[in-house]
Amino acid sequence: MGLTSVLRDALDKRVEWTISLVDDRLGRRRETLHDRLDDLERFGRGALQAQGWMDGDGRLGEPVAQLRDTNAAYLNWAAGPEGYAAQAGLWFNPPVPVNLVPGGVEVLMVNERVIEQPWVFAQVGADRPLRILDVGGSESTVAVSLATLGHAVTVVDPRGYPVAHPDLTVAACRLEDYDGPAAFDVAVCLSAVEHFGLDHYGQEASAARADHAALRTLRGLVRADGGRLLLTVPYGPAFAVAGFERIYDRPALDELLDGWTVAERRVAQWRDRLAWELLAPDAEPTGRAVALVAATA
Ligand SMILES: C[S@@+](CC[C@H](N)C(=O)[O-])C[C@H]1O[C@@H](n2cnc3c(N)ncnc32)[C@H](O)[C@@H]1O
Repeated sequence: MGLTSVLRDALDKRVEWTISLVDDRLGRRRETLHDRLDDLERFGRGALQAQGWMDGDGRLGEPVAQLRDTNAAYLNWAAGPEGYAAQAGLWFNPPVPVNLVPGGVEVLMVNERVIEQPWVFAQVGADRPLRILDVGGSESTVAVSLATLGHAVTVVDPRGYPVAHPDLTVAACRLEDYDGPAAFDVAVCLSAVEHFGLDHYGQEASAARADHAALRTLRGLVRADGGRLLLTVPYGPAFAVAGFERIYDRPALDELLDGWTVAERRVAQWRDRLAWELLAPDAEPTGRAVALVAATA
């Protein structure tokens, strides 16, 4: 059964289900109500046909081979970081975003989340529940995954967090304004601090180095006796501020980690659009990379 018929069946079942629900509520069948619902269905199908989403035989959608460039562009926008889910605060940054093109779908790129997320889970690697702070975790499933694994997780992000879990607490504020409980076992800061203080994510630009201030703040929020930091940031051969993010080099990363004791520092380099390569310990990248740092306070 193709996607088209699955979608059509789903639509039909929903209408049938709605009709029977209303019948049950009324305790009797009312033809006029059925007529109204039929009208509604016809109207919905007409709207879908007018948009070119349904053909005259009632087939919904179009086979991927017939995907038109305007629809592809619209659907890419709709599913992307400025689309509808994002506008509703429900967009999660996928490690492998795909791109619809006329007549097909391709992998847009493999982004750094593909290594950052498993690296964080491996580093957390606890056999007992931990108290974990996830800074800037709003568009990632890492916090809810850690909570589902049994950890007590607090997300601090001005954009809040869209998914609820009994072991997940959300502080919808900037890290610098957080005044909740401290003494976390682990602070996770995954691809976040490089944006702090730059004019993005609805935050105003600040002249001061908000990234340095954040790392100092985190030292006060983890346990003094061995509280850990799991940090990932964009990394490269030379420090740069590139639009909405900083890219750190070795001296800039050392400066960022001032006061922390580094336990592990790894670098993964972007080999090409589809692959990242974990470099040997202490190797420096020649191009775009991500640094993965485990440290203690
Ligand atoms: C690249 S995004 C999300 C990264 C996310 N951890 C992930 O894995 O996809 C950076 C996040 O930092 C948040 N942010 C920006 N300034 C912040 C601040 N001062 N305190 C806490 N979060 C901040 C933004 O709202 C945004 O959600």
